[in-house]
Amino acid sequence: DMGEYQHYMIKEIYEQPSVVRRIVQNYFNHDKINISADILKDIKASDRIYILAAGTSMHAGYVGKYLFEELTHIPAEVHIASEFAYHTPLLTAKPFFLMISQSGETADLRACLLKTQKLNYKTLTITNVKTSTLARESNYFLELFAGPEIAVASTKAYVAQVAVLSILCNTLSDQNIDLIKELTKVALSIENFLATQDISSLVHDKITKRNCFYIGRTIDYYTSLEAALKLKEISYIQTEGFAAGELKHGTIALIEEGTPVIALISSKEISKNTRSNLNEVISRGATTMIISLANTSQESDDIILKDVHPLLTPMVMVVPTQLIAYYAALERGNDIDKPRNLAKSVTVE
Ligand code: F6R
Repeated sequence: DMGEYQHYMIKEIYEQPSVVRRIVQNYFNHDKINISADILKDIKASDRIYILAAGTSMHAGYVGKYLFEELTHIPAEVHIASEFAYHTPLLTAKPFFLMISQSGETADLRACLLKTQKLNYKTLTITNVKTSTLARESNYFLELFAGPEIAVASTKAYVAQVAVLSILCNTLSDQNIDLIKELTKVALSIENFLATQDISSLVHDKITKRNCFYIGRTIDYYTSLEAALKLKEISYIQTEGFAAGELKHGTIALIEEGTPVIALISSKEISKNTRSNLNEVISRGATTMIISLANTSQESDDIILKDVHPLLTPMVMVVPTQLIAYYAALERGNDIDKPRNLAKSVTVE
């Protein structure tokens, strides 16, 4: 049921604060964390995490890699499921496999699972559907609690994936971030943005071409990959997410008068350099947009979000990019919940 909303996608975008709160309620039980000791033991015993996923879930996986390395100091690498299944990388002595899948039915991941089982390694699946094939067949699973995601373009599942990954990594870490507090802040920041900013005219004015770029550095680069996928899959605008510093090594040749370039800036460390990359494209005629967090914002930035913990920024930075995709698709009259050529779960390899 879409309720007051015109599409499932916009409904699911607006559900995100309550999804984050539901995850907090389900994972934190009077200071105890609802993750089995066996999962924690097996991950602690491993020397490398191999994260396998596709599409949006893979983009959450990149954030997961970042969280694993920052919080647990266990190296992590992300693999495209359909590649891993047919060309297994050289594995370390004690690998641990983490699959991320909203549906739990992605055939490419099932092929990976058959492979890891054959090699006798343990697998954890993070999924939204606890009755799914991957949840049943993996050694362990963790639930996303995002509620059914109907729109083909994944939104709330991504935010849920990053939230659950943060809880998992923090539980394995000696940093002990107060995640009840920090995830609640995330929910509030998303809520505040959704309640106070209407970005439809911004999208109308700036997203006017057949192509578009998102740029960001470090963790914002990962968000830019997800932002680009969302925009391209429902608006059909050819969009790429780029590491901000990499654009000038070739792709800047594509910048023409009016090409939209959207920068994601969530921290002080990268702000200066990403802004100077923006100046490089402005001088080639690009139309730019800046999405920033308050701690590093400038007054002229187009969208400014309330600060959250530095490791949780993708959960809030992604939200305006979901809305950019939504409004761009709406304006083009596209079928938002069922974009052409796409299926909600991809059950063929
Ligand atoms: C993007 C999208 C796809 C899925 C991908 C993986 O909006 O919906 O890229 O993320 O097909 O699906 P799951 O997460 O179900 O394995």
